[in-house]
Amino acid sequence: MATSESIIQALSGSLLPRLHHSDPCTNNSSPVHALKLNVSNTRKWSKVYVQVNGYSRMLHNCRTYRSRRLFDVFHWKKDAGRLESMGCKCRQAEIFCGGMTEDQNETRSKGEAIRPRSFPVNGISSATDIEESEVGKQFKHEKGGLFSDGMSTVAGTVKDHKYGKTLEDEAWNLLRDSIVYYCNKPIGTIAAKDLGNTSILNYDQVFIRDFIPSGIAFLLKGEYEIVRNFILYTLQLQSWEKTMDCYSPGQGLMPASFKVRSVPLDGDESATEEILDPDFGEAAIGRVAPVDSGLWWILLLQAYGKFSGDSSVQERIDVQTGIKMILKLCLADGFDMFPTLLVTDGSCMIDRRMGIHGHPLEIQALFYSALLSAREMLAPDDGSADLRRAINNRLVALSFHIRAHYWIDMRKLNVIYRYQTEEYSYDAVNKFNIYPDQIPSWLVEFMPSKGGYLIGNLQPAHMDFRFFSLGNLWSIVSSLATLDQSHAILDLIEAKWEVLVAEMPFKICYPAMEGGEWRIITGSDPKNTPWSYHNGGSWPTLLWQLTVACIKMNRPEIALKAVNIAERSISRDKWPEYYDTKRARFIGKQARLYQTWSIAGYLVAKLLLANPSAAKNLVNEEDSELANAFSYMISANPKRKRGLKRQGFIV
Ligand code: GLC
Repeated sequence: MATSESIIQALSGSLLPRLHHSDPCTNNSSPVHALKLNVSNTRKWSKVYVQVNGYSRMLHNCRTYRSRRLFDVFHWKKDAGRLESMGCKCRQAEIFCGGMTEDQNETRSKGEAIRPRSFPVNGISSATDIEESEVGKQFKHEKGGLFSDGMSTVAGTVKDHKYGKTLEDEAWNLLRDSIVYYCNKPIGTIAAKDLGNTSILNYDQVFIRDFIPSGIAFLLKGEYEIVRNFILYTLQLQSWEKTMDCYSPGQGLMPASFKVRSVPLDGDESATEEILDPDFGEAAIGRVAPVDSGLWWILLLQAYGKFSGDSSVQERIDVQTGIKMILKLCLADGFDMFPTLLVTDGSCMIDRRMGIHGHPLEIQALFYSALLSAREMLAPDDGSADLRRAINNRLVALSFHIRAHYWIDMRKLNVIYRYQTEEYSYDAVNKFNIYPDQIPSWLVEFMPSKGGYLIGNLQPAHMDFRFFSLGNLWSIVSSLATLDQSHAILDLIEAKWEVLVAEMPFKICYPAMEGGEWRIITGSDPKNTPWSYHNGGSWPTLLWQLTVACIKMNRPEIALKAVNIAERSISRDKWPEYYDTKRARFIGKQARLYQTWSIAGYLVAKLLLANPSAAKNLVNEEDSELANAFSYMISANPKRKRGLKRQGFIV
């Protein structure tokens, strides 16, 4: 303690002033000028910072200093006299900020703001048109080509439903009501607007993962600005500085959430300014690192480009750098023996202790999807060749590993049941030394004769057999699962409908942990009691991922059935965050009401069912090269496989 204090004192006396002086932004009084310096030096500056400040990061107030410096240009002074001009500068700051292509810079220097073009997607100009063109159509499932015109047209139309148009209208009103503004611009949606709940915690923040369905709903509606703002402002938040107990995780991390705060303006008591205050997990309950944030950010970035037709955002140098930083963090060498991403517990939607540390499926599916999306968006410059190679290597290895070792169905269960153990050899069948006694008794009941799924996690001598919905659904969406596996997952969902959907879609995982297992694994978490919250609770937001997966597999009727079930009570129940009990009969004990991603998840499902071809902007199609590499690995003998692996993992 004394030592760290003295180190901090010594450092604050020597290093910090030097950093202050070397920072062009803090010495500059003009926000716009500061921006230019900031922009042109941002990435370089960050590098220097990292090199020199192995120590300065340890300073307690560094983050504040750093954030403030970074956001100097984004402060919006609310002082009446300056409001107009500062607000304007603030807006310019974002529009003109870093990483433009030369052409764009030219446009900008002429004073023209670059605006995303808004033109018809899939021949349909807006969601209003979508509704009008689809209203009255009956559900029709034609087995045709995926996304082909008029294929599997599902008109889960608002008018077909007994609530009529009002349910969607209500959802839109609530979604718009949840919009958060910064410098007068929409930049995200609040997690929940539950005015009746006095325990706000961090539900008044914009969560990256929670915004994804909101963003997609806006994209589907042809409203691109909020998504563009969200992408660019969250990029500015990307892990410049965050510390916990004097330690900073690697650069590239995206925050879990952020809040727009009004703070007194330095040196001017009568005025306030707005700042963006990110949380990288250093304030979050349990101090969990949001590994999924950066992956979701990449996926939303690509969706924005596909829906809006505006590729200028992904082409910006700062955005390209942001993508690379996320990838480098994910692809960094560690102690891993597996191509899956090694993470701590609570690093994704399940953001508290649930025994998912290691290589949870949800993170692997998002990782795979983000790698595919990033590969499409990376500009083909000299610097990206190595990264591209690393991505390709990882994609092949990751898909092979998940498809081969995470997959279970009746056949595979039988193989595991008869596993030999303690095999020391390169050619071991039971590679991870799984003891057959691990097969839980519930699984014997749960596994249908037709269907299968990807298990939750795989570690030495440990298979987490729980069914995790998001991981399985996103494995379909991202093509991490093979076509056969994807269909089998949907078969299982149909076969286990009364367990996974029952009264409200969709169970986050199955089954719940109970008794001693719950005590040990959750640490006796009173929020995660059996069949509640993350421990077997039911989350309406999962409707949208279910819908994308079903449409991709040309089986939208499954999603439609789930949406119809949700519509029976979701509005009456005030759009809860989650439901409790085995059959999802109660509103979650501690669930927030008017949870934005429950509302947005429903809207995305509805919009996609009305216009299934739009789902093509959200899925990753199977890559033929990957498929070939996969078949090669499957057919290769163990020795050849080892050779390929060694060659393939040079990153
Ligand atoms: C809960 C959820 C998390 C979500 C957050 C905000 O912590 O577990 O996934 O992002 O609430 O809604």
